[in-house]
Amino acid sequence: MNADEQKQAAAVRALDFIEPGMKLGLGTGSTAEHFVQALGARVKEGFDIVGVPTSERTGQLAESLGIPLTNLDDTPHLDVTIDGADELDIDLRLIKGGGGALLREKIVATASDRMIVIADASKLVTTLGAFPLPVEVIPFGCTATAGRMAEVASAWGCTGRIARRTDEYGEPFFTDSGNFIFDCAFGRIPDPVGLAHELNRIAGVVDNGLFIGIADLAIVGTPSGTDIIEAK
Ligand code: A5P
Repeated sequence: MNADEQKQAAAVRALDFIEPGMKLGLGTGSTAEHFVQALGARVKEGFDIVGVPTSERTGQLAESLGIPLTNLDDTPHLDVTIDGADELDIDLRLIKGGGGALLREKIVATASDRMIVIADASKLVTTLGAFPLPVEVIPFGCTATAGRMAEVASAWGCTGRIARRTDEYGEPFFTDSGNFIFDCAFGRIPDPVGLAHELNRIAGVVDNGLFIGIADLAIVGTPSGTDIIEAK
């Protein structure tokens, strides 16, 4: 299977973990979209679930497929969130936010009893950081905030270009919550726990894309099928 087929296989297997009546967090990205498509087909057959989308994009897709939606204000506690990742390691530590939805993704995942990650094999790494770490930053004073991020990261053994994300027209990229994303090309992150904690202490940082201790299980597509990794 190629990478997209692996994503789809992981997404379809995730349906095995969904039971009627569940309240689900619906992730963002191409792998999560495979899941939403598969879920939509089940809903058409009468499967009874309700979803909370982690982005406007996912919400629109789910709506178009007839998936009943709610939000965390009306439904603050969810059973399972199914979402993709930009990187994961064997301890189920993740980098997320490549699609710019890391804040809502983290809020929804931590409002859920379980988070299940779905990914193709290329996402599984030994050391996090080859994928630039997305950090969501308030626009006010963002250059100063990025400077503090560089200082803090350096103290945690991470150096590299920190760049404000732009869209396909070269304009600043805004998250669904109206913030900027800074992508931090560290190459490797020797201490994800320490870095995640200290980045979030910087005034102006809303959250970072390191998901530590949040995922419970990963379904990883492989050339020949899917593998399951469970949190230790
Ligand atoms: C969205 O903000 C991200 O966290 C996605 O979960 C991540 O980028 C994975 O995307 P793909 O499934 O498209 O690889």
